[in-house]
Amino acid sequence: RTRAVVLAGGSGTRLWPLSRKHFPKQLVDVLGAGSLLQMTVRRLQKLADVELSIDSSPIIVCGAEHRAISAQQLEQLGIDGNFIIEPSGRNTAPALSLAALHALEDGGDAVLVVMPADHMIGDVAAFQRAVAAATRHAERGAIVTLGIRPTRAETGYGYIEPGDDIDGSARKIARFVEKPPIEAARSYLASGKYFWNSGIFVLRASVWLETLQKMQPETYSACSAAYEAGQDSATGYKPHEQLFADVPSDSIDYAVMENLARGGDVEGVVVPLDAEWSDLGSWDSVWDALEKDASGNVASGRVLMEDSNSSYVRAESRLVTCVGVSDLVVVETADAVLVVERSRVQDVKRIVGRIADQE
Ligand code: GDD
Ligand code: MG
Repeated sequence: RTRAVVLAGGSGTRLWPLSRKHFPKQLVDVLGAGSLLQMTVRRLQKLADVELSIDSSPIIVCGAEHRAISAQQLEQLGIDGNFIIEPSGRNTAPALSLAALHALEDGGDAVLVVMPADHMIGDVAAFQRAVAAATRHAERGAIVTLGIRPTRAETGYGYIEPGDDIDGSARKIARFVEKPPIEAARSYLASGKYFWNSGIFVLRASVWLETLQKMQPETYSACSAAYEAGQDSATGYKPHEQLFADVPSDSIDYAVMENLARGGDVEGVVVPLDAEWSDLGSWDSVWDALEKDASGNVASGRVLMEDSNSSYVRAESRLVTCVGVSDLVVVETADAVLVVERSRVQDVKRIVGRIADQE
């Protein structure tokens, strides 16, 4: 049995002004095909097509302030999410632990397909094949991640050095380095050997919990205590607020993945994913992911452009016009307008940092 888990706790500020504190990236219709959360859940449901007996009700782990909109967006798709509501964000290791505890209680030791709620995957068939292969390894007890071929020296990702080939579909993880310094990222890229960690994990609920217990006993016991003392409600499962606040903040990558290759009896496995993956981490990557016109522009909403090229222009509420511009990002919403050079989109967070209450 396979169970989908969606980590929907993000508060991505780099897609400001569309993404806001109370309406983060995963809830926004970034690509014009439904919100990223909706795209994620639909993609997970398509796993049923490849004979993975995926449960029709995905486990969604999200913060209390985003639960209502998330649930509403799932309802629009006719999907009944199984919500776990975090009183506060403690990063991905605790979020996954809550989901694993819930899955175990809810019908046994399922293989969990764990996905971030805010990524895009262009080639769904390739995604299905990768998850099917990953599931075979997860069933026999491995912790599997889907690996992406790097295209730049990105320092915000995890890097995986693959080891021995397993069966043509997967490699052992020889080394995992989360968010390396730029020099290391450059050398990993140059070596041509490494994968990026996609952040999509496939593993058995019990394997995750046992591994966490061994590697981070404090995080494990704090999570279990908060889960056990929690309660079901009409809107979802709520771990104990005070006990969850005591859980140390840690990510799956730092807490477990980096330690995997260093021994222990759990096997780390990477399955390559060649599927037009993007984590849509900036407006530039949104421009990159979308189809462009003959001048390399992507326009959305009421937009008119003259003699302009290689730009992303998005109008949410007014008419936006551009003349003679290139390599620009313009995002207009009812209460805020962003104009930034495409090469500077990483610095949008500097503006967001200056706006009170992270609008
Ligand atoms: N429920 C919940 N609670 N979800 C969370 C929390 C939390 O406290 N924190 C983060 N998430 C969700 C985010 O919304 C996102 O979808 C996903 O978990 C990953 O968290 P990020 O904070 O975006 O991680 P990252 O981008 O720094 O790094 C991860 O993703 C990279 C690929 O995009 C790592 O797994 C890297 O190794 C990986 O390369
Ligand atoms: Mg991310």
